[in-house]
Amino acid sequence: MALQLGDMVPNFTQDSTEGRINFYNYIDGHWAILFSHPADFTPVCTTELGQVAKLKHEFDKRGVKVIGLSVDPLESHRAWVKDIEEVEGTTINFPILADYDRKVARLYGMIHPNADDTFTVRSVFIIDPQKRLRLTLTYPAATGRNFQEILRVIDSLQLTDSKKVATPADWTPGGEVIILPSVPDEDAQRLFPQGWDAKKPYYRVTKL
Ligand code: BEZ
Repeated sequence: MALQLGDMVPNFTQDSTEGRINFYNYIDGHWAILFSHPADFTPVCTTELGQVAKLKHEFDKRGVKVIGLSVDPLESHRAWVKDIEEVEGTTINFPILADYDRKVARLYGMIHPNADDTFTVRSVFIIDPQKRLRLTLTYPAATGRNFQEILRVIDSLQLTDSKKVATPADWTPGGEVIILPSVPDEDAQRLFPQGWDAKKPYYRVTKL
């Protein structure tokens, strides 16, 4: 069965552009994103890997380990990384798994045979420090991902794990948040002394 939210993600050991990686050791109590690419030397993937490299400091700030994957051998990855660095004007500063035998792709359900039985789709997995799956995204091959959105989800997950709130549509950090409907008003008074605006009895918004 496909991985579902809340599942413990499976471990693997695979070669990467930064050496052989044991995934559990690599995560080591951190948040992580694992994202796959259809193949090396493809233009959309080239832009995506360049973009992630440019945003790496934002993932670092949030304590998130970054790891890419493409189903080609290491030598191919090494040559492609040179192209990416040249075209995108950046240094690839995170490992890309060389999943030539599709071991990880199969384990994580990154191959969707009705879309393409050879290449991985554009999957994203956000994994928490307990190695639980917290988000999956699946994009079609011809659509590059929005990594600002992935950072936004990480911000929401980290906030909502630590406070009894949820984040509304199009929320960005600093914006109003929703007090969890399961929190009674008496508890909310203690947790949110700044008060809240009750739009409906089940819908209370506050600023943190
Ligand atoms: C790309 O990464 O550029 C790409 C891959 C597969 C199909 C279309 C585009």
